[in-house]
Amino acid sequence: MNVIKVKNYDEMSEKAAEFIVDRIHTIENPVLGLATGSTPEGLYQRIIKKYEQNEVSFKDVTTFNLDEYVGLEKNDPNSYYYFMNEKLFRHVDIEMDRVRVPNGVAEDLENECREHERAIEQAGGVDVQVLGIGGNGHIGFNEPGTPFSSKTHVVDLDQSTIQANARFFKSIDEVPTQAVSMGIETIMNSKEILLLVSGEAKADAMAKLLNGEVSEDFPASILKQHDNVTVIVDEAALTIAEGK
Ligand code: GLP
Repeated sequence: MNVIKVKNYDEMSEKAAEFIVDRIHTIENPVLGLATGSTPEGLYQRIIKKYEQNEVSFKDVTTFNLDEYVGLEKNDPNSYYYFMNEKLFRHVDIEMDRVRVPNGVAEDLENECREHERAIEQAGGVDVQVLGIGGNGHIGFNEPGTPFSSKTHVVDLDQSTIQANARFFKSIDEVPTQAVSMGIETIMNSKEILLLVSGEAKADAMAKLLNGEVSEDFPASILKQHDNVTVIVDEAALTIAEGK
């Protein structure tokens, strides 16, 4: 893993935006894998700014999102589709038929998982996958214990994940208990991965990632076996790893 250390969240977001814009410029018909959560919000804001300054266009870009809650409609403010539309898609010139977020209200969720995989394959695979990390090491919604060989699947969310994400909902009872998520193998099949890590709340996970073993108990650890991973991490997230 190529680890780039930065001062803070803003610097992480700027570096990440430069990274993604560079790939959009250099890859023909780029396919991006996108993530939700608080971590990549700054990245998306900066990408929008670069688009407004005519530094980048999304005309030839295809995107796949990592995950979606089961049971939330596209127009639900807590759905990841809504998040992506609000935070990125509606502000740039992306063709919406080149955007795929798993459908969390599909009648047949197993079929939806297969469709997500099929669409990624048809697009030629993901060129660059953006990732955040959960406090428990989850990537996408692949909770500890998920087989490394998993493809897009329906997952039961960890209680810790439900609690962490409750901040976006009126009450914890409203947080969905399941999600559709790209699997770990799906993520590992990406040609390149960009992992963003910021803040003290991620310091423990960052220390485990850097110093721990590769184990299904800590899903992000598999990234050490991918040959093209860049981690952009800020000082606050490195406090435990660096013993500060
Ligand atoms: C969420 C998402 C992940 C995200 C992670 C961290 O549950 N499913 O894709 O990376 O948890 O979120 P945050 O960036 O808000 O800390």
